Amino acid sequence: MMVESGAPEEPGSISVVRTLDDFLRTAAIRAIVYMDGQDCPFDEEFDGNDFCGIHLIGWIGREPAACLRIRFFADFAKVERLAVREEFRRSAIAFRIVRHALRLIARKGYAKAYGHAQEGLEPFWARFGSRPISGRPSFSFSGHRYTEMLLDLPPREDAIDLQADPLVINRPEGDWDRPGVLERGKAAAAGSGRDRTGWTEATAEAWRRFAGDEGFDEEYCPWELDMPGLNDRSQLMLMC
Ligand SMILES: CC(C)(COP(=O)(O)OP(=O)(O)OC[C@H]1O[C@@H](n2cnc3c(N)ncnc32)[C@H](O)[C@@H]1OP(=O)(O)O)[C@@H](O)C(=O)NCCC(=O)NCCS
Repeated sequence: MMVESGAPEEPGSISVVRTLDDFLRTAAIRAIVYMDGQDCPFDEEFDGNDFCGIHLIGWIGREPAACLRIRFFADFAKVERLAVREEFRRSAIAFRIVRHALRLIARKGYAKAYGHAQEGLEPFWARFGSRPISGRPSFSFSGHRYTEMLLDLPPREDAIDLQADPLVINRPEGDWDRPGVLERGKAAAAGSGRDRTGWTEATAEAWRRFAGDEGFDEEYCPWELDMPGLNDRSQLMLMC
């Protein structure tokens, strides 16, 4: 389950970093694991790319146990900065956060995930289906040797592409299955006035799931929107 920022209720959850506090949680993990654990200098660990991608946190109880960064290029997404705090190793959080990252990358429509596997960790990355890129020699940075690895991701029917509902595209990264803030109450009603009939079904489906997860909240209900089949409050109440 995707969670909001801060410690989630479900153990083992993975969340997308959306706040400074959550970013600090990932920075703390990386400082411990890489700067302290692997003698990596600050400038090499915090390399200028931290505001250019998505960061994930893996939670164990209320503690941020693992983190991972994803950056996006035209043809591939790069998975990097995977780190698990030593006290949480062998808890399966490493596998959960990597799988979550791969699902997110595929959902964004990418067919390839690329990464640099630290020497010795090739078998770890191979467990997800990654393979060393043939003909590419290993290389070094920050005192370690690395192998370039590539993973082909199966296409997803629900990938966010140009056919997607525009309001789904607007939703927070990684949280595409429930209405975003722009679909709630007055913000949605005061929208651009464009024809919304094309996204009625997707929006209705998202509201169904949202209500299922978190209960019906009248304040956020879009019953005032001009949506065929959904312009009657009692119908919407039933649907939710
Ligand atoms: C790599 C890492 C994320 C794996 O998380 P973890 O909780 O240790 O995962 P697990 O204990 O479930 O280990 C997964 C497998 O990788 C192996 N492994 C872990 N670290 C390894 C290392 N440095 N070298 C070789 N194998 C390693 C484990 O032995 C295990 O294999 P096994 O099940 O066959 O014994 C974690 O060890 C870590 O944060 N390491 C420091 C940062 C790092 O090197 N990140 C990866 C950069 S590519």
